[in-house]
Amino acid sequence: MLKEINGRELNILISSSEISKRVGELGKQITEDYAGKNLLIIGILKGGFIFVADLIRSIELKTEIDFIRVSSYKNEMNPGEVELVTDLGMPIINRDVLLVEDLLDTGGTLEFIRDHILSKKPASFKICTLLNKKKPRESRINADYVGFEIDDKFVVGYGTDFAEQGRNLPDIYVVE
Ligand code: IMP
Ligand code: MG
Repeated sequence: MLKEINGRELNILISSSEISKRVGELGKQITEDYAGKNLLIIGILKGGFIFVADLIRSIELKTEIDFIRVSSYKNEMNPGEVELVTDLGMPIINRDVLLVEDLLDTGGTLEFIRDHILSKKPASFKICTLLNKKKPRESRINADYVGFEIDDKFVVGYGTDFAEQGRNLPDIYVVE
């Protein structure tokens, strides 16, 4: 398995078995919380694609799925600027929407997507993130479901990338 990306060493943070156990717990919780509802899950591309694929298979409810794709530019030119690349493909008015994301860092990306989704008037809206970085945030974003609280380090694997590499890693690693 890959041990480095662009010369940077990878050290394991969360193993695939820990991930799958936690994803099962999240699915069970979501199943209980939305009992009797027809849930609309919105996955965020690209980082959330593996998490959302596993999570929906641990949810025992009527569910539909759609995706939204955004890109975030993080550099001195455009700090934290988010752009909508591909919008939702179905109406979400009056739907119970659960947004599923790989990683909550500054919260800028989720804030942008939340505002976009809320403007379409869903019946309810919650956020599920696999990873939540422990850090003070300017944005007022809080996830309703969190897989793991992690330190503020750059991570890769299980859908998240480092320079577009490493999304295929089954475990989650810290990029040293
Ligand atoms: P935020 O807008 O700062 O919350 O960043 C959210 C997005 O930035 C995530 O969906 C990831 O795609 C990306 N990101 C933030 N931190 C990391 C990381 O440690 N590894 C990989 N991607 C990250
Ligand atoms: Mg992402």
